[in-house]
Amino acid sequence: MTRHFLRDDDLTPAEQAEVLDLAARLKADRFAARPLDGPQTVAVVFDKTSTRTRVSFAVGIADLGGVPLIISSNESQLGGKESIADTARVLERMVAAVVWRTFAQSGLEEMAEGTTVPVVNALSDDFHPCQLLADLQTIREHRGELVGLTVAFLGDGASNMAHSYLLAGTTAGMHVRIGAPESSAPRADVVADAERIAAATGGSVLVTTDPAAAAAGADVIVTDTFVSMGQEGEKAERLARYDGFIVDAALMAHAADDAIFLHCLPAYRGVEVAADVIDGPQSVVWDEAENRLHAQKALLAWLLERKDA
Ligand code: CP
Ligand code: NVA
Repeated sequence: MTRHFLRDDDLTPAEQAEVLDLAARLKADRFAARPLDGPQTVAVVFDKTSTRTRVSFAVGIADLGGVPLIISSNESQLGGKESIADTARVLERMVAAVVWRTFAQSGLEEMAEGTTVPVVNALSDDFHPCQLLADLQTIREHRGELVGLTVAFLGDGASNMAHSYLLAGTTAGMHVRIGAPESSAPRADVVADAERIAAATGGSVLVTTDPAAAAAGADVIVTDTFVSMGQEGEKAERLARYDGFIVDAALMAHAADDAIFLHCLPAYRGVEVAADVIDGPQSVVWDEAENRLHAQKALLAWLLERKDA
């Protein structure tokens, strides 16, 4: 049966580990998997801007033997002019998979329901699951096993990144802490899903408004922009809301001595993270950015293997 990757918990713990193992193999041997040889084409559609996602999918699809077709939705019929359902039916006649960066999670669900090819969420307002595969690969590289590690995500707890940390982190058996102002608390249903996953994997979930408590003893510290794509109109109000949540040396001092720092990028130095942290010795953000390539190649290869004939 065709599998899609719309949210982090679309992969079971065993499947997530399989994808991460394959990502490590593909990092060591870049052309080891060629599921798109032919070549077959993968559509990569953007409703929002991107550097990393665009480049890593384009390069990754080529590495897998395929051809990337990068589509900006404002230059296509998608986005009000043609329905998602009709687009899904057209794309499946020509491409091996659809990768889509968009706003509403419901659009991704509609695309997946309407097509026989795998659909991959390349970031929505609610989740950024491809980023999390890269983040988990990075954490594994620097800290060994994921099970039992404590990760603290600080800042916008209602963001796609925080939600993805809740689901992907608990799937990996990690203790996931979200430190966010009350007005940016994670969605209750996502917290509930993460708690359910954690009960099975040995992980746990903690949501707090105290950034120092979230960071205390953590193995991994993560933050992201306080103003996500689509929220630009709320910039002034949002920046005021996160007073005290900047990840600086003082906040890092609450974490474990050997803690690593991650940020999905793009980063705003002096806003959500201090320059001496993101550019300092604990930061692994460049490995994290590179791992988008390896993790997404592994994901695509894994999904294509399971696609309906
Ligand atoms: N981290 C990330 O998704 O970056 P882009 O917005 O540049 O794709
Ligand atoms: N939370 C950010 C992530 C950017 C990669 C956003 O949605 O804009």
